[in-house]
Amino acid sequence: MCGIVGYVGPRPAQDLLLGGLARLEYRGYDSAGLVIGENGVLRSVRRVGKIADLMEAVAREPESFPGSYGVGHTRWATHGPPTVPNAHPHFDCAQEIAVVHNGIIENWVELKTWLEERGHGFSSDTDTEVAAHLIEELGPVSLAEAVAEVLRRCEGALAMAVVRRSDPGLVVGGRKGSPLVIGRGSGENFLASDIPAFMAHTRRMMIVPEERVVEVRSDSVRVTDLFGEESEPEEREVEWDVEAAEKGGYPTFMLKEIHEQPQAVAATLLGRIGAGGEPLLEETGLTGPVAKGIDKVFVVACGTSYHAGMMAKYALERWAKVPVEVDLSSEFRYRDPVLDERSLVIGISQSGETADTLGAVRFALDQGARVAAVTNVVGSSLAREAHMVFQTRAGPEIGVAASKTFITQMALLQLMGLHMAIERGVMTPAEAAGPVKALRSLPDRLEEVLGLSDRMLELAEGWRDVRDFFFLGRSVDYPAALEGALKLKELSYVRAEGYAAGEMKHGPIALIEPGVVVFGVATDRRLRQKMFSNLSEMKARGGTVVTLVGSEDRTEAAIPSDLVIPLPEDADLIGAVLAVVPLQLFSYHLATIKGLDVDQPRNLAKTVTVE
Ligand code: M6R
Repeated sequence: MCGIVGYVGPRPAQDLLLGGLARLEYRGYDSAGLVIGENGVLRSVRRVGKIADLMEAVAREPESFPGSYGVGHTRWATHGPPTVPNAHPHFDCAQEIAVVHNGIIENWVELKTWLEERGHGFSSDTDTEVAAHLIEELGPVSLAEAVAEVLRRCEGALAMAVVRRSDPGLVVGGRKGSPLVIGRGSGENFLASDIPAFMAHTRRMMIVPEERVVEVRSDSVRVTDLFGEESEPEEREVEWDVEAAEKGGYPTFMLKEIHEQPQAVAATLLGRIGAGGEPLLEETGLTGPVAKGIDKVFVVACGTSYHAGMMAKYALERWAKVPVEVDLSSEFRYRDPVLDERSLVIGISQSGETADTLGAVRFALDQGARVAAVTNVVGSSLAREAHMVFQTRAGPEIGVAASKTFITQMALLQLMGLHMAIERGVMTPAEAAGPVKALRSLPDRLEEVLGLSDRMLELAEGWRDVRDFFFLGRSVDYPAALEGALKLKELSYVRAEGYAAGEMKHGPIALIEPGVVVFGVATDRRLRQKMFSNLSEMKARGGTVVTLVGSEDRTEAAIPSDLVIPLPEDADLIGAVLAVVPLQLFSYHLATIKGLDVDQPRNLAKTVTVE
């Protein structure tokens, strides 16, 4: 949520900052800005709109921007609407200090009042501006010391990058709660919210640890804690290649990522299934004694990751015979859940930086629970704070709406369920062999369902003006239906309700009338007849019904449906995962037909680092 980038080096900072911002645009895109320093002057441009608008504005500047250091920002508004005065960077009174920030300063009103009493004048509605004035108020201390003091005084989540007119060639970053990474180049260095900002220039990176300040110069990087104690974060090599963060011939990242799902799942499973078909997940720390010591599992997640958690509940309960509760992260710690050292809390988050999920996990850690992270981002906050890490290995997901990360979460959580079942002694490896085989076939099955793209395009063309959609399912098909509805809402801006099919008769059926389209996900064979009855009830009230159903037992006459979307018949629990793919494609096509920006839907941000 909000992207920040900093550069110091011999090349024109303008190009590196704009390029970095374009790659971070998925984090927020309502306004953007940059500031570049050269010869004792700081020059800044800010614009409402996307990075392309900022690029145009920079190109239209009467004089070129020759500077070789600076910072940039792409915003997802929290405090104050997207306007030029609210766009970052924010300055102090003397226009000497420029700050870009990701996160929320929770005590900003108090700080602002204090600073105003001391004569500071503010020009934006943002919380961020207090940081610039606070640094000014601290007077002639080093910029690193000033940033450390800002981190000490500001409550909330912050990642910031700061330049000061009197400190040429220096960008200072600070991290407390929000992510910040360093890109180490040769004779140049980068600071950013996320790796894609500099991946085209260097693959050597460091994660800035929590509560640290970093001084970035062209030839050095110095990391200190909030009291000046120096430390050296481990340098890592970025494993993704640059192409992974490009569109690779597809018109959008979203379509590319939907089509990458088979390879992504193959990467998730790679090396994690033994020659005898047994799950190999011991390296995560989920060993026999640990698995046997778990009485109860709590899953915490948001959005699409929450739907993965809901689906995983079926796998964990059915196979590992452990009770599972699934909570929205933003609700979890406010309901006083009863946790102890025999509780396993699984935090699912593709980014590993979602503030709600981090809050839930930190609460669980405080209660003494064991915590597992399911995440796509190596070294993310969630990964670093959890006892056990399950890496989904989907590669970078740039489209704001989740696709391949969801499917890989599902594959990994199912494997985790089977692993836990064996480690707990409630399933033998031979009994797990069937579900493991089904998981292994998932990449091929995903290729098959991707073949439904044209069919989903036809449907989207026919229903471009439909205003009301329902997505229904039972058991494991219910979270698949919820995911279908979420994709349609976020990509196409169409009202879409996901509902448990059996629950419709208890109220929402009142909304069914001619013109309403109902997608029914019916992959759970145990419940197929009941699901068909529920869909008949929708059809009887004038709804147009589309059923996603496996091939076995599929006699179209028996299905109370206007249309049938055929899915491969598959083992328990896999079918619902497959059903999500045509629903992703339907939402994608409908949004494209409407001319909407599928990679960056309105009002959203990829990584939600605020509560
Ligand atoms: O990074 P996370 O998995 O924690 O993100 C959770 C949600 O913010 C995310 O799934 C969101 O709902 C996406 N827009 C879904 O497409």
